Amino acid sequence: MTKTVYIKTVGCQMNVLDSEMVVADLKRHGYRVVDTPAEAELLLYNTCSIREQAEEKTYSALGKLRDTKARHPDKKIGVLGCMAQKDQEVIFRRAPFVDMVVGPGQLHSLPQLITNIDSGEGRQMAVSLARTDGKQATVARSHETFDPLRDPSMRPTPFQAYLRIQIGCDKFCTYCVVPNTRGPEQGRSPSEILSEARTLAEQGCREIVLLGQTVNSYRHRSEAGDTDLAGLLEQLHEIEGIDRLKFVTNYPKDMTERLLVTVRDLPKCSPYLHVPAQSGSDAVLKRMKRGYTVGDYMEMFERIERILPNAAVSSDFIVGFCGETDEDFQKSVQLIERCRFKNSFIFQYSVRGGTKAAERLEDDVPREVKAARNHELLEVQNRVAREDNEKLVGETVEVLVEGPSKKGEKSEPEAAAVQMTGRTHCDRIVVFDGNRRQAGQMLEVHVDDASSHTLIGRVRTVELVSIGIEANG
Ligand code: SAH
Ligand code: SF4
Ligand code: F3S
Repeated sequence: MTKTVYIKTVGCQMNVLDSEMVVADLKRHGYRVVDTPAEAELLLYNTCSIREQAEEKTYSALGKLRDTKARHPDKKIGVLGCMAQKDQEVIFRRAPFVDMVVGPGQLHSLPQLITNIDSGEGRQMAVSLARTDGKQATVARSHETFDPLRDPSMRPTPFQAYLRIQIGCDKFCTYCVVPNTRGPEQGRSPSEILSEARTLAEQGCREIVLLGQTVNSYRHRSEAGDTDLAGLLEQLHEIEGIDRLKFVTNYPKDMTERLLVTVRDLPKCSPYLHVPAQSGSDAVLKRMKRGYTVGDYMEMFERIERILPNAAVSSDFIVGFCGETDEDFQKSVQLIERCRFKNSFIFQYSVRGGTKAAERLEDDVPREVKAARNHELLEVQNRVAREDNEKLVGETVEVLVEGPSKKGEKSEPEAAAVQMTGRTHCDRIVVFDGNRRQAGQMLEVHVDDASSHTLIGRVRTVELVSIGIEANG
């Protein structure tokens, strides 16, 4: 008999990928995915700890399950992901009706934990070792993932997939929980990565996004020799069926000449680089322990401009970090104006337990000031993005079509024209009127209009068809 599972995923691309694997694994164990908690026997929450707000949302969603569990004690509730690793027993205390707490490095054990509960062993917890719990290698092993299980039906589109090349992070930026929740940095072996990429290509995937917290720091050492990201891209580039390769997130210090030249010379590599700056002030960067100055960032940025003049660069910023003055903040504004990022994700600093900033620095920027800086920085970012997108009006861009846009999804299933969405090689979002069959195709789209986040266009081949009809008529 098939069993039912509901899974809710929040957080970054790593979590989206983890949920895909969890579902693939559970399907092998006879489960079917359902869309609502009400229909499900197994309810899973794949969680994020990056900011307090993300955690509080999850705790409030869990709180709503108290009655559900009281009415249906047979339903099993599992908390997975970074919050499971960070909060561990705290989750059972705050939500005593939860049955399982499973860290991101232990997701492969989920079917066994379910069996344990079914055989009456009570609630289960599987988490990885903390940094101080053992030798580096032992801790690293406890954070391994089970990537080869792929399930195209769990992806937003079967034509695009994430592929993890790196686990964990060793940078220890003072504000960040990730080195604790995801453990030591480890590069997966090139042979595993290549075989997974071939599986994805066989499943019809055309675009692969390589994932790592500092993806361009990727390194794998073996007797056969060292592999870096550039070397890996060269090998992945050979795979037939894969048309686009992207990689996120980059660490500014590791954006080497060699990597940029590789991206330039391999046509499948997207000229799109997400390289978070976090702040435009040296004093703030130092307190964040980011390991570079604004001067270093600019040097890297100019290297990108020289080698890949048409690349789109995007960033992340934290506003209101400990000790950030108005003057510091204005330097972030200036950095956006100078670099003209394609987009920036802007976050208000949130104190995270277990980090150096929480221990040693004072969270002294008032909430209202954080909110005002967030708003101001976003306005500057939106303005430069809109201006740069407007320059593309009148041009033709190549779009990998993902599927109906949010507006298109609301159209009747039989509607002749549906608004579709896709992305350019540079990762710009494009919407156009088309039809559902175009999903997965690479189309030439003429840009008619632009906003800060979207290009609006029409498919060029439609014009060719109408010319063809005219000629025949
Ligand atoms: N590994 C990536 C990003 C990981 S987290 C990198 O280093 O770029 C994604 C983003 O969340 C970060 O870039 C940062 O801007 C933001 N972030 C991380 N910790 C935060 C915190 N404590 N408060 C607010 N934003 C945070
Ligand atoms: Fe967090 Fe810094 Fe690592 Fe990114 S590089 S995951 S911000 S510690
Ligand atoms: Fe969140 Fe963990 Fe990703 S804390 S951002 S889900 S690595």
